Amino acid sequence: MNFKAIILAAGKGTRMKSKYPKVAHKICGKPMLNHVIDRTKESGVDDVVLILGHESDYVKEILTHECKIVEQKEQLGTGHAVLQAIDNIDDEDVILVICGDTPLIKAETLKNLFDYHVKNEYKTTVLTTTIENPFGYGRIIRDDKNDLHKIVEQKDANEQEKLVKEINSGIYCFDGKSLKESLLMINNDNAQGEYYLTDTVKIMRDKNLKVGAFEGSSIEELMGVNSRVELAKAESIMRNEINKKHMINGVTIIDPDNTYIEADVKIGFDSIIYPGVMLLGDTEIGEDTIIGHNSNISNSQIGNNTEIMSSKIVDSKVGNNTKVGPFAYLRPNSDIGNDVKIGDFVEVKKSKIGNGSKASHLAYIGDAEVGENVNIGCGVVFVNYDGKNKFKSIVKDGAFVGSNSNLVAPVIVEENGYIAAGSTITHNVPDGSLAIGRARQVLKENWVYKKNKK
Ligand code: UD1
Ligand code: CA
Repeated sequence: MNFKAIILAAGKGTRMKSKYPKVAHKICGKPMLNHVIDRTKESGVDDVVLILGHESDYVKEILTHECKIVEQKEQLGTGHAVLQAIDNIDDEDVILVICGDTPLIKAETLKNLFDYHVKNEYKTTVLTTTIENPFGYGRIIRDDKNDLHKIVEQKDANEQEKLVKEINSGIYCFDGKSLKESLLMINNDNAQGEYYLTDTVKIMRDKNLKVGAFEGSSIEELMGVNSRVELAKAESIMRNEINKKHMINGVTIIDPDNTYIEADVKIGFDSIIYPGVMLLGDTEIGEDTIIGHNSNISNSQIGNNTEIMSSKIVDSKVGNNTKVGPFAYLRPNSDIGNDVKIGDFVEVKKSKIGNGSKASHLAYIGDAEVGENVNIGCGVVFVNYDGKNKFKSIVKDGAFVGSNSNLVAPVIVEENGYIAAGSTITHNVPDGSLAIGRARQVLKENWVYKKNKK
């Protein structure tokens, strides 16, 4: 037996008013389709078959898991969509059908649905829930023994059926063989002229096959995203869940309503996250670390016992016991060591800063390799660009770069080299040497008074 998922994502998503396919829109930093694929994988699905139509090339680009892709050229209904995948369905398969626009579904729910389906030996099991306002959904119609009888769409429902509050989630488990047989029997004789997947329930019932309904979920989790308003709502629900998960794991979040942590971020316990923080992409924060307000960190690793204050960090690494900010900017490929201080208005790009080094204020460090226990004074600029090409500078362990110096790359300051303040350094500095690269001070005594007399 193989557990396969067929994910429906061929629709246009007209109400998004977007040139991009609906399922590619992101929720907490990840395309909603990828959330659905991730959840199906977590629930134990072996293979994923994706039904794509509109902008399928664009959708293929965003995928992070290997999936079998089947094209549905015309969108003639959910039954027609699944029919396109018929060659990928084996008789012994258990098939999970789910839509690509339900990003809040939980792996546990899918697993429970699967277990219930297998345990009861149903040929199809529909995931259902009961809601106050069922308008728009397919209704679950039960027989006098309270067994599932059929599903009726909103537009096809009679007055009595419209009163039913138990709805079809659009998520199902099927027995492979029965699904294939009933897919071939669906017609489009209904209010929308579509081939409804939901008709398989009635078709199976008429063949005396066992069909069931599993009431195992809340409507929040089943929410479909069809518009930007729903996109924001789903984002808010998922954001709350993510923040809650971190708090349960031992992270302090001062104001969860104003903290934006994307789905794949990891945070160690006893770390504290202040309001307005955005932790994005593949970011990992260590233990006992403080992320101060309005910091924005993407795809970066931050160590333990470190403090980031109101700073922006992109595609970089920061070690342990280090302080960054306020108002520092670590651009891609910065690798900041342990016990380092990167102070206010310091910008670092594609540079390595060794353990114990300090750049406390107002510096630009680009394309550099800075050793351990180096002091970079206030206003130092690593002059890495000549207008055409970028060059690298090396400042070795224990060196001291005085305030307002320029290091014109490529240049090497050897160990314990000492640069006098205000120097422009264009030649290498040997170890332990003092380099002064500035005009000597000239003194003209009483010059001001003489000038004023004239
Ligand atoms: C469907 C169910 C309804 C259920 C609801 C839950 C049917 C007939 N109805 O209705 O009972 O309550 O979901 O949300 O299945 N799609 C394709 N190809 C198509 C048509 C649709 O890939 O030809 C995809 C869409 O992109 C979408 C999903 O299938 O992601 C659902 O299609 P949609 O037409 O929106 O179904 P609903 O009317 O919501
Ligand atoms: Ca529809």
